Amino acid sequence: MNSINKVKFGKVPLVFPIPIILAGALVRGKPNFETLGDVGIMGIKPPIVFISSGQDHYTNIGILEHETFSINFPSTKLLSKTDYCGIVSGHDVDKSQLFNIFFGELETAPMIRECPVNLECKVIKEFSIQHRHIFIGDVTQAYVNEEFVIKKEDRPRIVDIKNLDPIIYGLDNRYYKIGERIGVGYQEGKNL
Ligand SMILES: Cc1cc2nc3c(=O)[nH]c(=O)nc-3n(C[C@H](O)[C@H](O)[C@H](O)COP(=O)(O)O)c2cc1C
Repeated sequence: MNSINKVKFGKVPLVFPIPIILAGALVRGKPNFETLGDVGIMGIKPPIVFISSGQDHYTNIGILEHETFSINFPSTKLLSKTDYCGIVSGHDVDKSQLFNIFFGELETAPMIRECPVNLECKVIKEFSIQHRHIFIGDVTQAYVNEEFVIKKEDRPRIVDIKNLDPIIYGLDNRYYKIGERIGVGYQEGKNL
């Protein structure tokens, strides 16, 4: 094992792979979406998530106004529109017509119908750090497209995560698809 040599890679936050999401907000009465890789779960029960968005991003205006946002998981079919939302800003371009939009219980967090999974979030904390604005949200509702859901013991379950076909990103600035299922959580280590 001592023969595995390491190369210092620099001060890079090499957390990978990253799911790519579209963060949605209602800005000045119109839905706006920005592409984000800086997203994550902070806890499952209660369900807390965060997004980190550049200080001057147009999306932030709507999140701060309504204290709500959405996290939408595009499938690979939406790759070019997803990339586009990360290239252009709502400050310059109206991105409200790119997708079919729906609203949920909070009424001010626009969500994308074509994205198989959507999280509707209520801001519970927000702050600036360096040139970023961090929004921590309580997930008030999760939505999954019906075609990917079955009912088991009266609870909805996703048939196979692979079918959702999420866009994965690496810090090599490349997009990927997910691969094969290789095991079951809390099981694979049991025989050690
Ligand atoms: C693949 C990809 C990932 C991105 N990840 C982030 C991110 O995590 N945080 C961020 O602030 N901007 C990120 N961006 C850039 C924003 O999406 C971009 O600045 C966008 O134009 C902001 O839109 P808005 O001004 O309409 O809110 C990413 C862009 C791409 C293409």
